[in-house]
Amino acid sequence: MNIIENLNWRYATKRMNGEEISNEKSEIILEAIRLAPTSMGLQPFKVLVIKDKEIRERMKQACYNQPQITESAFMLVFAVWKDNYEQKATDYIELIAKTRNQSIESIDGFKKNLLNAIKSNDPISWAARQAYIAFGFGLATAAMLKIDTTPMEGFMPDELDKVLELDKLGLKSVVIMAIGNRDEKNDYLVNLPKVRKSKEDFFIHL
Ligand SMILES: Cc1cc2nc3c(=O)[nH]c(=O)nc-3n(C[C@H](O)[C@H](O)[C@H](O)COP(=O)(O)O)c2cc1C
Repeated sequence: MNIIENLNWRYATKRMNGEEISNEKSEIILEAIRLAPTSMGLQPFKVLVIKDKEIRERMKQACYNQPQITESAFMLVFAVWKDNYEQKATDYIELIAKTRNQSIESIDGFKKNLLNAIKSNDPISWAARQAYIAFGFGLATAAMLKIDTTPMEGFMPDELDKVLELDKLGLKSVVIMAIGNRDEKNDYLVNLPKVRKSKEDFFIHL
């Protein structure tokens, strides 16, 4: 597997052909997203996996009618916790204790740091930054599997949240991803070279 070749192969696909993706590959992409690191390990967001055509039809108007919403095999919606961060942090501490067979008291210092981090940050924008890391893992993993993706911020979060009833789940959408296969005939971007700054312009070596 040539990592750089695959990263050059991927592009933000504008048109997809509606073909399905194998379960095996879909699961690998989802697992890479789940395994992404987050600050203090909190994972303060959820990822909705939306294959249902009718739901995707309804999502489309909230996404400026971008065709990938319905031409993809499925959509991912990264949605951050809206509230109850302290309770959820406590649940996370319990998960650590259970997973690592530790007492809650032995990780009390970490719990205090975590609660402080929540208080000293704007929790929603902090959570969004964590969600974007997982989002990047998903994009890169899909490229390694030669699966196409479109990273998408071109949507109206409040409208999308209404369609998906995210309020009921205590969530707020921050970024979405189309996953599928490129439509080589109809996507004007297929054969265009990638535009990136040169290494000299981009990196600062000290
Ligand atoms: C966070 C984010 C949001 C984006 N939103 C959209 C979008 O709504 N629709 C779209 O077609 N492309 C979207 N793009 C694609 C970018 O325009 C594209 O990634 C960029 O031009 C670099 O090109 P490449 O990904 O094809 O290499 C988005 C990319 C990122 C990273």
